[in-house]
Amino acid sequence: MSGPNTDYDPVEVAAVSPAELEAARDAALAAIAAATDLEQLKAVRTDHAGDRSPLALANREIGALPPQARKEAGQRVGQARGAVSKALAARQEVLEAEHEARILVEEAVDVTLPTDHDPVGGRHPLTTGAELIADIFVAMGWEVAEGPVIEAEWLNFDALNLGPDHPARTMQDTFWTEPADHHVVLRTHTSPVQARTMLTRGVSDGAPIYVVCPGRVFRTDEYDATHSPMFHQVEGLAIDEGISMAHLKGTLDHFATQMFGEGITTRFRPSYFPFTEPSAEVDLICFVCRGVGHDDTGQCRTCRGEGWIEWGGCGIVNPRVLQACGVDSERYSGFAFGMGIDRTLMFRHGLEDLRTLFEGDVRFTTAFGSEL
Ligand code: DAH
Repeated sequence: MSGPNTDYDPVEVAAVSPAELEAARDAALAAIAAATDLEQLKAVRTDHAGDRSPLALANREIGALPPQARKEAGQRVGQARGAVSKALAARQEVLEAEHEARILVEEAVDVTLPTDHDPVGGRHPLTTGAELIADIFVAMGWEVAEGPVIEAEWLNFDALNLGPDHPARTMQDTFWTEPADHHVVLRTHTSPVQARTMLTRGVSDGAPIYVVCPGRVFRTDEYDATHSPMFHQVEGLAIDEGISMAHLKGTLDHFATQMFGEGITTRFRPSYFPFTEPSAEVDLICFVCRGVGHDDTGQCRTCRGEGWIEWGGCGIVNPRVLQACGVDSERYSGFAFGMGIDRTLMFRHGLEDLRTLFEGDVRFTTAFGSEL
């Protein structure tokens, strides 16, 4: 067992000499004061207060001193280390505060600056509405057909049993294109797509026709809250063997329920269209008052107390139309219907002014943008 070191020579323990200790402490304090950011302070801490720093080495050497020298040396080293760690903590606090203040300035976001991102648009309710209608019919196995908006007079009128002198021609105020002897119009309804479908697809090969045709139509109407010279219709046409009014009623009831909700069905009122015989106006149970005509606060504003809303026209395709379009009217029969899409959307979304659908205000469109 080794005894205490009696040959101790204090001169050999240089690191704890007061001068060196002071020099180490002063160097540490100067480095701390000179550190201008937290990174630098971290390095200073390692160099001057870390395990291998002169002050740490001095501290370790205390243990090697003879007992009588330890107390005094311990005090001096302890004071020097205390001063350094106090200075480190103080500097740390100052630099952290500076760092945070700088981040607040450098990383500040000016939320009032104009954005350079293109705003996300919304799909127009007429687009999504026409798709919704098409989907309802596609789900029943129908196809979607489209036709041109600039249409031959013959397809818009004559083929549909509206001959040149037919009084019903004046039911639809027509935009004619020039020169007049070309007999081309802006289509006044989507019904010419019926004629086109029968002429191009035919049922002569035995395949029945079930098509739905959404599209844009034109009439010389005023532009106001309920009229527009351009609007949208959806046409339906079913040609098969044994088609009856019952199929028409069932189809439109299904359409109404899908569009407006459970319990919303239709009623037919006798009417006249040259292309259908018999013909009917289709009304929809008012989906706001559900046919009652009023609620606790008074008359229903949507149907004006009627309990029903006019929705469109329909009927059994006139055999003369079938014949004009090359369909064997002895063998086949069919039904057809036509509704205003804009009107349908006005009911569905409670729009008061038709013009909101056409004026292209994105604030209107985006409100519907996420509707599928
Ligand atoms: N084409 C008619 C209109 O615009 C609407 C219509 C009525 C279409 C009866 C039809 C129908 O197919 O059968 O006023």
